[in-house]
Amino acid sequence: MAHINRIDPFDFVIFGATGDLTMRKLLPAFLQRFHAQEFQDDTRILCVARSAHSTDQFREQVRAALKEFAPDTARDAGTLNSFLALVQYVALDATKPDSDWSGLEENLPNPQRTRVFYLATSPALYAPLCAALAEHSLITPLTRVVLEKPIGVSLETAAEINDGVGRFFPEESIYRIDHYLGKEGVQNILALRFANPALEKLWSSDAIAHVQITAAETVGVGSRGAYYDSSGALRDMVQNHLLQVLCMVAMDAPASLQADDLRNEKLKVLNALRPMTPDMVRHNVIRGQYTAGRIDGHDVPGYLEDLDQNRASNTETFVAIRTKIRSARWGNTPFYLRTGKRLAAKTTEIVLQFRPQMWPIFSNTPSPGRLVIRIAPDEGLSLVLASKDPGAGGFRVRNAALDLEYENQFTIEYHDSYERLLLDAVRGNPALFIRRDEVEASWRWIEPILNSWRHALSPLEPYPAGSWGPASTRALLARDGALWHEDMLT
Ligand code: BG6
Repeated sequence: MAHINRIDPFDFVIFGATGDLTMRKLLPAFLQRFHAQEFQDDTRILCVARSAHSTDQFREQVRAALKEFAPDTARDAGTLNSFLALVQYVALDATKPDSDWSGLEENLPNPQRTRVFYLATSPALYAPLCAALAEHSLITPLTRVVLEKPIGVSLETAAEINDGVGRFFPEESIYRIDHYLGKEGVQNILALRFANPALEKLWSSDAIAHVQITAAETVGVGSRGAYYDSSGALRDMVQNHLLQVLCMVAMDAPASLQADDLRNEKLKVLNALRPMTPDMVRHNVIRGQYTAGRIDGHDVPGYLEDLDQNRASNTETFVAIRTKIRSARWGNTPFYLRTGKRLAAKTTEIVLQFRPQMWPIFSNTPSPGRLVIRIAPDEGLSLVLASKDPGAGGFRVRNAALDLEYENQFTIEYHDSYERLLLDAVRGNPALFIRRDEVEASWRWIEPILNSWRHALSPLEPYPAGSWGPASTRALLARDGALWHEDMLT
């Protein structure tokens, strides 16, 4: 069994505690780590929200949520009850100036303990909440604040939030979470690249013809329509998750795994992304919206029906982008990013396509090999290489894959990326969180795309649910003689 590093007792305060994120992700993640015996008895999880619940009533809500979202662990009544005993509910409308904060103050008597405030609220409340925490003297030297995405909706609003929070917390105490960095498959990119020098030798435009990063989902917008319709796929997925994955794939080796060494290298990638002009947006960015279709044998409605608001929407549920990185390492390699709702499969993966042979000597030429890094639904690697087709006479080659399924090789310790990240915030390790300059550099690159769209320079293309996005998505790669991964497989 893995060595357990028990964490000193801490106070973890969640604002927005009745919300979806708390119930689906944060509390289930804590339950798992509690079950792994990482907490000491007097650790406390304080859940703050506006509704007038008692702690007992709230615990019953949490019990139901845990049974749904962490069923295997929650089945054990002993574990579940002991965990629920750590959870306290505090009713507080933190946005009202005359609210009574005494309930929260009384629950945080010890300034010597690590204290984490997790803001699972609307980002508009981040700065006012931090101001209120300061006013009530709740920020100690051992306090950290965790901010959920989205940090703003533009460069300006991101900077406002960062300024607002930065007035009360030093940058090293601000943990901007991106749950993609908590995924084992994403962290493994570092190991794959920097612990395998032979592979790193291939990691440049010399050997890599293109890189594709896909985060495809089969789900629609569900109950998050109001948020999603004001956001869209570019802000919801690309500005944060996909650009972070791109950084992990493209960055140079950091001097160490210390937070700032890692983040400095990621920042260089973000700053080296070729800036988008309106003309480039027109030719290199596809935006789509799903219409009704079929997924896994079921009819599913289109986006407008999912929204159920009786009006048209100009929001994209799909985006594909072709970009380049202005660096000696990558200058000659297009990077394709793609994400969307209601696509043909739930898959998050990175494909590095190797360059073709310079001078073919075999009677047939299979497509060039590739390395596929699978992040979801199952983590693994596939190295596709050409091999001789066995048999007498002739000399034909065809592609065959070396496959590594993580599940078969390793014990998977974390069920969900939040488990790792929440405990990193408690332990004070910011390496897998986003620094202010990274957030702002991502927005700086994204904003010209949003501006071009605002001027209606790119049409919103429909795609049927269950497909791989608008038809023009193929043409984006065809220009470089490239195929999306699913088309390589047919
Ligand atoms: C969230 C987005 O950040 O990531 C959601 O807001 C999206 O719209 C989700 O569904 C995808 O996460 P994952 O881990 O399922 O790929």
